[in-house]
Amino acid sequence: MIKGIIFDLDGVLVSTDELHYEAWKQLAEELGITSFTKEDNEKQRGVSRMESLEIVLNKGDKVYSEEEKEALAERKNDCYKELLETLDDSAVLSGVKEAISYLKEKGLLIGVGSVSKNTPVILQKTGLESYIDKVSCGLDITNSKPDPEVFLVAAKKLELEPEECLVVEDSEAGIVAAKAAGMKSLGVGPYYKSLGATYEATGLDADIDWESILEG
Ligand code: BG6
Ligand code: MG
Repeated sequence: MIKGIIFDLDGVLVSTDELHYEAWKQLAEELGITSFTKEDNEKQRGVSRMESLEIVLNKGDKVYSEEEKEALAERKNDCYKELLETLDDSAVLSGVKEAISYLKEKGLLIGVGSVSKNTPVILQKTGLESYIDKVSCGLDITNSKPDPEVFLVAAKKLELEPEECLVVEDSEAGIVAAKAAGMKSLGVGPYYKSLGATYEATGLDADIDWESILEG
């Protein structure tokens, strides 16, 4: 029996992909890397900030020290945070508020499980904050997805057992993390068919059979 739903943030609740892409692209260009594409950006889905940086740096041939990499990641994040200033309710993906309202009415607890350290500001700026019971994010964890930590922390905050939680994810790393946490998953987004999730839907605006999913 499922008692709580843990939603990933980027690509599941909100559309921030373009902003991440813009910020990484800007950093890449500053470093003289002109070959960073949308396709490379797709590989950053669900992946931590430092691992995302590696995907950018691999497109160039310069070697950076750990200290330099930290500074580069911070530079990207400053740019991303500036772009987040413009974020509002319109970034919330279609069907999100309806699905969460439906689930809350059914008595389900709602959590967020995201490796993004910008999770609190994104929830606040989009107005999603009031829909969420507990947040587990990059600020709470030391290991990023595919490690299960972010979902286990979410379950703990919701005071639920892992098997009582369902994860909603748009990335392969997130689905692997859900499995490792002992949780069933619903895969959504452009790659929903190839994520290896327990259940699949194009997005939260699809015709999802919540009744049978919640039976577990
Ligand atoms: C994930 C995104 O949700 O958060 C990744 O899918 C991103 O692309 C990661 O790298 C970390 O986000 P942030 O906001 O802490 O840099
Ligand atoms: Mg995601």
